[in-house]
Amino acid sequence: MENTHNFMMPKINLIGVGAIKDLSAELLDFKLGKALIVTDKNMIDLGYVDRIETLLKSLFITYDIFDGIMHEPTVSFVETGLDYFTKGLNVLKRDYNLVISVGGGSNHDCAKAIAVVATNGGSITDYEGYNKIAKPAVPVICINTTGGSGAEVTMTAIIGEPNRKVKMAITSPELMPAISVNDPMFMVSMPRQVTASSGIDVIVHAIEAYVSTEASPITDSLSIGAIRIAYKYLPRAYENGYDMEAREQMMFASVMAGMAFNNAGLGYAHALAHQLGGFYHQMHGNYSAILLPHVLEFNAPSIPDERIFKIAEAMLIQATDKTEAADKIFNALQKLNETVGISKGLQQLGLTTDDMEQLAVNALDDLTTFVNPRKGTVEDLVNILKAAL
Ligand SMILES: [Fe+2]
Repeated sequence: MENTHNFMMPKINLIGVGAIKDLSAELLDFKLGKALIVTDKNMIDLGYVDRIETLLKSLFITYDIFDGIMHEPTVSFVETGLDYFTKGLNVLKRDYNLVISVGGGSNHDCAKAIAVVATNGGSITDYEGYNKIAKPAVPVICINTTGGSGAEVTMTAIIGEPNRKVKMAITSPELMPAISVNDPMFMVSMPRQVTASSGIDVIVHAIEAYVSTEASPITDSLSIGAIRIAYKYLPRAYENGYDMEAREQMMFASVMAGMAFNNAGLGYAHALAHQLGGFYHQMHGNYSAILLPHVLEFNAPSIPDERIFKIAEAMLIQATDKTEAADKIFNALQKLNETVGISKGLQQLGLTTDDMEQLAVNALDDLTTFVNPRKGTVEDLVNILKAAL
């Protein structure tokens, strides 16, 4: 039986405390080039962008800064960022040959989208779906400052389309960053709520990738490793943001889970979380974290026993049969949500019964549904939303 896998990741991944120092050597090829830094005002206030500016100046790389990203990327943010490619705001000509994203998943996704449309033309909405981008993008470097999205190592951008109230998933090898940088020094000031939301999303990424129909032995080992690490260290990183060991471990878990889901895909927790984000605009990880136990419960009949046991084992859960293991995983995930201050249900994050059917319909169009281990109907997804309300 044919069963092939194409494993993709950025060509260069700089990881660990002080990793940012190694970026200079990787940027030598861009010496005398022009860069667009894509970021948000908070990254500037924290001094992170300043550090990148110093590095670029030392290499005689000129740059401009687009700091217009807020909370979650939308089509209009991408268009505003793209304006920098065509409209001169100062004496520099705008033919950038590098895009540098500083921030979390929102900034990376926006930067990846800008880099693709800059060379391919049209609008980012033209590329919604899988593999619709023809030309290579401007090279993107993602300097990550959160512990969870994995966007710095994935070939997907999630971009909000407010007119349709959806979050578009755009997936293509052309969206893969050239270089990812994960240096925990950029993560110490991450607010507690972001540590919780992005950190718990690591576990959702890892578990969804592990039970995906596209999982392979490579993604399995990354997924299980990420579950084991994140389950242990997230409460510590949440409790004390200056716990560098916990921050570093969460960073590794995030990268591992990102590489796993980039190649194995996700599932209904993400399909629904994307759509909930499109409607109610709360932090993505809060939605996925609340949904995961209920999605796992729905998926359980289609997940091989051995895989349930392996997830349980990674969470230090002992059980004698599949039902007991699944129940204990369900309870442990909810307990972890509680420990890191995630809301108990989706109602607190905006969900109303009236919107459920539309959300379920939208979710079934999301790219992430195609590898979910159990096929669901609109009614099934509505029931998952009801259970998570
Ligand atoms: Fe996620």
